Amino acid sequence: MLVKNCKILDKGIEKIVDILIENEKIIKIDKNIDRCDDTEVIDANKNFVLPGIVDLHTHMRDPGLSQKEDFTTGSMACAKGGVTTFVDMPNTVPAVITEKILDEKKEILKGKSYVDYGFNFGGSKNDNSSEICKVVDKVVATKIFLNVSTGDMLVTDENAIVNIFKNSKIVAVHAEGEMVKKAIEFAKKYNKPLYLCHLSTEEEVNFVREAKKEGLEVYAEVTPHHLFLNDSDVNRNEKSKMLLRTKPELKTKKDNEALWEGLRDGTIDTIGTDHAPHLIEEKLKKLTFGMPSVENSLEMMLKGVKENKITLQRLIEVMSTSPAKIMKIKNKGKLEVGYDGDLVIVDINDSTKIDKESLVTKANWTPYEGVVRGGKVLTTILRGKKIYSDNKFYGINGREISYE
Ligand code: DOR
Ligand code: ZN
Repeated sequence: MLVKNCKILDKGIEKIVDILIENEKIIKIDKNIDRCDDTEVIDANKNFVLPGIVDLHTHMRDPGLSQKEDFTTGSMACAKGGVTTFVDMPNTVPAVITEKILDEKKEILKGKSYVDYGFNFGGSKNDNSSEICKVVDKVVATKIFLNVSTGDMLVTDENAIVNIFKNSKIVAVHAEGEMVKKAIEFAKKYNKPLYLCHLSTEEEVNFVREAKKEGLEVYAEVTPHHLFLNDSDVNRNEKSKMLLRTKPELKTKKDNEALWEGLRDGTIDTIGTDHAPHLIEEKLKKLTFGMPSVENSLEMMLKGVKENKITLQRLIEVMSTSPAKIMKIKNKGKLEVGYDGDLVIVDINDSTKIDKESLVTKANWTPYEGVVRGGKVLTTILRGKKIYSDNKFYGINGREISYE
């Protein structure tokens, strides 16, 4: 495939280039590349072309909760949102806490995704470190819940936590407040890389800033909703009081600002959506934590660029390059020769509103309905094949990622 007239950022400088992809990989980036007869040509029309987004935090609900989302609908939401690689969390049913369950989950989901994917393994309360040892090369990270959330995966036993840290390649944690500090202490003591999911407060950003100053291998993620939304949005009306509930809860405007600052100054490394689809009926009937997000994350972060919250260069780092690098995902996250031909073409001049009608997530609602998007995903390309363009989807070719 040859993608013509791509506006790209090369070390912060805008350039117009053509990108040639062969056998799934980018093989040439240059001005005016000539086409061969049988090469598929796509014209980016001087729109921005970014490396496909890598989202390290999604809950695709498959198997077991597929009334909320399944691997196909969730991956369509990815393709439409410019996400070409996602990592699925272990709180599916059954919870992914043994090698056998992991292998079975992988088998069930084969051939169902439009984009590439990987899995996190779950650390369990009754210490499954012997299982963790068996799967370290088959998963992205071990995820542990140190605070209550959706599913029954809270780990409180200190011995179990220690063993999980000792036996994992990298530990991803759901930790809030003081538990962030605690997780950092474990990482330090057991000399393990730590990935802190969804920071939500100024205090947590400060904990991470200190840890990085100390030279610890600690990474942090923030979700678009913790950047853009806060308690005043939750309290807007009776409906929002139910819909905009998530773990961690949305905090204050001041916390939003501290998270943006953390994202700018390198304290926060990645955007992960925590795409947590629940049907709107479930959300309105009973307090249910989590919100869908993957379909609109890039469009929202481009809004952040327009509002001068971050630069486009930083957006590319936190949404593509760093997530792939931190988790050592092979050939993802950069527009460079040798990398996978995962591209997203975005129109940053689009100023239409995010609407409910075009959603593909089974959750069928978005916290951003009516918001003016910062740009629109026109086309998404996975390993040199068009998978999404102009509201149409093509070919289920997603496969599991590999590691460096
Ligand atoms: O709000 C949340 N929902 N937070 C989580 O950590 C899990 C997620 C879910 O799975 O619904
Ligand atoms: Zn989550």
